[in-house]
Formats: sequence, C-alpha cells, structure tokens
Amino acid sequence: MESQVTEKSFVQRIQQIQNEFESELNQIKSLKDLEGVRIAYAGRKGVVSSLFKQLGNIPPEERKAAGQSLNLLKQFVSQTIQSRENSLSCRNVKQKIDITLPGEPHYTGRLHPLTQVLREIKLCFQNMGFSIAQGPEVESEYYNFEALNIPKGHPARDMHDTIFVDDNLVLRTHTSPVQIRVMENQSPPVRIIAPGRCYRRDTPDASHSPFFHQVEGLCVDKNVNFADLKGVILTFARHMFGSDMKIRFRPSFFPFTEPSAEYDFSCLICRGRGCRVCKGTGWVEISGAGMVNPVVFGYVGYDPEEYTGYAFGMGIERIAMLLFEIPDIRLFFENDMRFLNQF
Ligand code: DAH
Repeated sequence: MESQVTEKSFVQRIQQIQNEFESELNQIKSLKDLEGVRIAYAGRKGVVSSLFKQLGNIPPEERKAAGQSLNLLKQFVSQTIQSRENSLSCRNVKQKIDITLPGEPHYTGRLHPLTQVLREIKLCFQNMGFSIAQGPEVESEYYNFEALNIPKGHPARDMHDTIFVDDNLVLRTHTSPVQIRVMENQSPPVRIIAPGRCYRRDTPDASHSPFFHQVEGLCVDKNVNFADLKGVILTFARHMFGSDMKIRFRPSFFPFTEPSAEYDFSCLICRGRGCRVCKGTGWVEISGAGMVNPVVFGYVGYDPEEYTGYAFGMGIERIAMLLFEIPDIRLFFENDMRFLNQF
C-alpha cells in the first residue's frame, strides 16, 4: 500500500505545480513550445493526470476538498493554454501578412514630353509620305553654313552663336545641314524630316537653352511650289493642335531659301483673343520656311531648272511648350520628377 498523502501536502503540491506551469509558460515563444507544455501538464500522462491518480492515497474524508483543488488546477491549465494558443496563432498571422500596412506603389516609367511630341510629329509627317533622316551633331562648317549659302563673314553666321569644337568643326546650330547630306546621297524626289539636337552659345533663360531640338523638313521634286509648303504646314498644325488651327506666313530672309518666310500658328492659349504667350497678337511664331535656294541645289548637284523644293524648320520645345502650356524651356532638361510625372 502506498503511503498516505494528506490534503494539506497535496494542495501544496498543486500550488507548486501551478507555479512551475506559469513560469514555463512565460518562457515559450511558439505554438510548438506551447504544445510541449500542454503535453507535459494536460496530456494523458501529464502532471495533472498523475495527480488525479494520487487522489486515492488521500484519506477519504479529505479527498473531496483535494479533488476540488485539483479540478481548479486542471481548469486553469487548460484555459491558460487555450488563451495562449489564441494569442500566439494570431500573432503568427500578423507576422506573415499585416493587412494594415499601406500598399507599395509601383511607378511606371513614362516618355519624356519631348519624346512624346517628337513621336507625334514623326507620325504626322510619315502619314504625309515623309521619311526620317539623320545627321551628325558634330558638324563641319561646310554643312552647317557654307553649303547652306552662309559663307564666312555672312551676317547670318552671327545670328547663330556657334559652339566650335575645333577648326572648321562645330556643334550644329540647326538641323538644316541634314538637308545637304540627304541631297548629296540621293537624287530627287526627296521627302524627309530630320529631327535632332542642336546647340547654340545661349545663356539659359525661360525661352533659351544652349541645347534644344529641331525638326527639319525638305521636299524636292518636279513642280513643288509654295502652296505645297503651306498645305503641309497647315496639315501639321491641325494634326498637333486641332482642326481650328490657323497658320500665317510672313516674309523673311534665310540664305538657303528664296523666297523665305517665317510661319506662325494661331495662339491656342487664348484662341486668338490675345494673351501673354502670343504677346497680345493672337499668333505664335514657330520657325522659318521657304523654297530651296537654287544656290543650294548647286552645292549638291541638283538641276534647279528641273527641280524645285521647299524646306522648313521647327523647334520641338516650342511645339511642346504650346501643347502642354509649359512656361519655361529649362524644365525639359532639369529632369525633375515632379515635372516629368505630369505627362
Ligand atoms: N535653320 C533655321 C534656324 O535654325 C530654321 C529654318 C528656316 C529652316 C528656314 C529651314 C528653312 O529649313 O527653310 O533658324
């Protein structure tokens, strides 16, 4: 027969076990740890169950009270394990997915406004049968000036604040030299546009930048005339700015065209009523154009008796500034995301 256990010592043992249980529970970190504690205390062969087996050793008159204390321990153990399990599994889910965190936005790239405008310009002229030509940005004085009928000492050279790279070598001041390069390599008919970067020694301000972009246009064939030029420019203006655009040609002078003109678009900011952009005139200057000077044909070996042609220029920044109502040309080149993200 096993030795007798008094109720008093049994309850002390229960108290001791409860203390051990609580301190073990304080140290666990995971559901796996918790399962270990559960098996040790509440399992079939656990501490609580072995205590129940000892109840029989308690004198019958004390057994009831001892049994009540033991039942309280059993309840305490199972409730504490349950609530601990709840908090642990809840924390685990939170570690994996915190649905309260803000989403991480993924910014998509976008095209620079000048690229967008250039693509639209190309599309428009390609639709009219023009192809795309290119020329070097480092250009000889011959192509940049001489073959365009701007000889040394000609006052038109002073208008281009030229950046020299070397003797006779410049950063092209306009895209017009591409006209010469194309005509040298190809006999008529010619119908090209030549987009590209140009450079001038300008101090930057709201409307000047030492580098900028132009699109050159050139069409040479039999019976090409000034009305063709006006038609192409009008089609372009309406493609870019809408069908109610008007255009205007004013007499001007360029050494490589004769006759020469400057052309304007009706101001789309104020629709011709007069505003700051058009300086109250209702018209915005775009660039120059004209009929190719026979002298230029002489440089490339075209027969001016057989062929005529028109040429035009335009500034891409200018077009983009009008289209997007951008007040300062420097914005295009600062690459400020706050600016670029608007397009
Ligand atoms: N190259 C001129 C400039 O940069 C613009 C220009 C004028 C181009 C008349 C042309 C033209 O093709 O015919 O100021």
